[in-house]
Amino acid sequence: MADAVVITGASSGIGAGFARRFAARGHDVVLVARRADRLEALAAELRSLHRVEAAVVAADLTDPAAPARIAADLADRGIRATGLVNSAGFGTAAAFAEEDDALVADEIQVNIAALTLLTRILLPSLIEARGLLVNVSSTAAHQPLPGLAVYAATKAYVTALTEAIWQETRGTGLRVLALCPGPTETEFFEVAGSETFKVGPSVSVDVVLDEAFAALDRRDPGPVHTVGAGNRAQGLLGRVSPRRLRLWVASRAVGSR
Ligand SMILES: NC(=O)c1ccc[n+]([C@@H]2O[C@H](COP(=O)([O-])OP(=O)(O)OC[C@H]3O[C@@H](n4cnc5c(N)ncnc54)[C@H](OP(=O)(O)O)[C@@H]3O)[C@@H](O)[C@H]2O)c1
Repeated sequence: MADAVVITGASSGIGAGFARRFAARGHDVVLVARRADRLEALAAELRSLHRVEAAVVAADLTDPAAPARIAADLADRGIRATGLVNSAGFGTAAAFAEEDDALVADEIQVNIAALTLLTRILLPSLIEARGLLVNVSSTAAHQPLPGLAVYAATKAYVTALTEAIWQETRGTGLRVLALCPGPTETEFFEVAGSETFKVGPSVSVDVVLDEAFAALDRRDPGPVHTVGAGNRAQGLLGRVSPRRLRLWVASRAVGSR
């Protein structure tokens, strides 16, 4: 069985960055997303630059059957998942009453359900390998965000789930991390069709990855790492502020009511 790090959302942005960093460290990788052409191009780049194996699994995570299918695909290819990075995700920006039903259903399926099920299916293998689990959450998880209500709630779920997994797997040697970047220069805003998510200054993917790997290089990175001192301070303030004040500040920051 060949060991590999499985990365969802590897066709772009933070997921592609994780794939490049893991490959540069000599890990074989499995690249998951819908755009197979992009994944194939990245896989070719990683094979030639770093002499690692890079497998491509094209999957649409809005399909509830996708996580099980990905796991079956890994088994067919004789790949053991020693690491999992759940980076696939997207956001919708609108007042809740004006959200598009189908898009919201997909957002919940990709950001929450697929992440949960893929993590559950691969967890025994990750634990056996004393490997790592990174769930890409967001600073949006730190407080409810009027105007980005569903997105922020999906990310609050991701952080809460990951924290509980961190606690449940203590002592197993598995490193578990909920990574909370703030605005990051990726295709995220273009996909969302909105800059509303840019609450505060944006950073590059490299800044996010430098902090993520500094955390992962510790024996216990988790349960949560927020990228950037300003975002960490804002997260802390959010946790200790009265709920109404927190919502008022958040709605001003997002530019909603
Ligand atoms: N950029 C930011 O400011 C920011 C801040 C905090 C957290 N995040 C989080 O970081 C993660 C990565 O986002 P990013 O910034 O790197 O954005 P991105 O450049 O748009 O990348 C999103 C990735 O998710 C994949 N994806 C989306 N829908 C999918 C689906 N239905 N099935 C399979 N894969 C799907 C995309 O691949 P395909 O389109 O090829 O399927 C792409 O690889 C997300 O979870 C996002 O919420 C982003």
